[in-house]
Amino acid sequence: MNRKPPKNGKEYLCLAIESSCDETAAAVVTDGRNVLSNIISSQIDIHKAYGGVVPEIASRHHLNNISTVVDQTLEEAGVSFEDIDFIGVTNRPGLIGALLIGTATAKALAFALDVSLIGVHHIRGHICANYIAHPDLKPPFASLVVSGGHSTLADVKDYTEYEILGQTRDDAAGEAFDKVARVLGLGYPGGPLLDKLAKEGDPEAIPFKRVYLEKDSYDFSFSGTKTGVLNYLNGKRQKGEEFNPADVAASFQAAVVEVLVEKSVRLCKERGRDKLVLAGGVAANSCLRAELEKACWQNGIELYMPPLILCTDNAAMIGCAAYYEFLAGAEDETMTLDAYPNAEL
Ligand code: KG4
Ligand code: ZN
Repeated sequence: MNRKPPKNGKEYLCLAIESSCDETAAAVVTDGRNVLSNIISSQIDIHKAYGGVVPEIASRHHLNNISTVVDQTLEEAGVSFEDIDFIGVTNRPGLIGALLIGTATAKALAFALDVSLIGVHHIRGHICANYIAHPDLKPPFASLVVSGGHSTLADVKDYTEYEILGQTRDDAAGEAFDKVARVLGLGYPGGPLLDKLAKEGDPEAIPFKRVYLEKDSYDFSFSGTKTGVLNYLNGKRQKGEEFNPADVAASFQAAVVEVLVEKSVRLCKERGRDKLVLAGGVAANSCLRAELEKACWQNGIELYMPPLILCTDNAAMIGCAAYYEFLAGAEDETMTLDAYPNAEL
């Protein structure tokens, strides 16, 4: 792409849009790392009634909200459409109807404003949230991305160069948290509620299975651990025996976290990485944060974690990822951008 200089002569101003799941979000970010505004309109209360995200309902609400969210973010940043240098939008992976609302909006705006459009991978965005939170952070580093749809271990070689080393073979970490929370009757979204309940329980009360797969594998599998919880609860209920939900939550969480920590630290050691970057919604989990801190300290690894507001879905992280793609010469996709429900990192 033939890059023009910044309109204000100082820094590139990116309008970023995120709508891959149930948050309609827009942000204004300058030079990738400085967030002028970060508006998130959450649909959690709407989907709560159904116990999970209903894709069609999510799309409709994105459509209703997106213009207002974009207007709000510009107003809060104190800028106008004419100030924008380029637009970044999540176009993969995610719920297809939800992604299409964001991408269609971004394409229309990029065309009308005659600025470049850059499609961003949602998980790259999650990793980039750490650049916003930590001004000193630079690649290379190892990264653990744990969200509702992904559990990924990646080697981040450069700002736009990623190598996936491990992925989940079944449930993502967040998905497993949400499903276990549901059977415990905790409500939606389950991850944060399970995290809270686990604080009152004993993580060693029930020895749920830790699944490490092959000795040298960086892949994850959480469905066996999740099924272990379901079997434990069914057994107790069938026999009419009492159980302590807080112990179940704490023991399940400990089993998942132990595997995430072991594989992340092993990746750093085997790849000679001295920095580990945590990302994704499950990065908000208090047990994961504490255990990673401990393990990284013991192994001389520097740990980077986003603040809670940048862990779950937001558009600031998309603005950051788009900036580095923009600097690396990404093609302008104003006329060509498509949305993809599945996509490689
Ligand atoms: O990254 P995210 O906002 O959306 C996706 O890209 O999937 O992640 C949402 C996931 C949900 O599964 C949610 O339950 C989980 O992150 N989550 C947590 C916590 N906060 C959010 N899981 C465990 N503990 C938490 N504190
Ligand atoms: Zn996400």
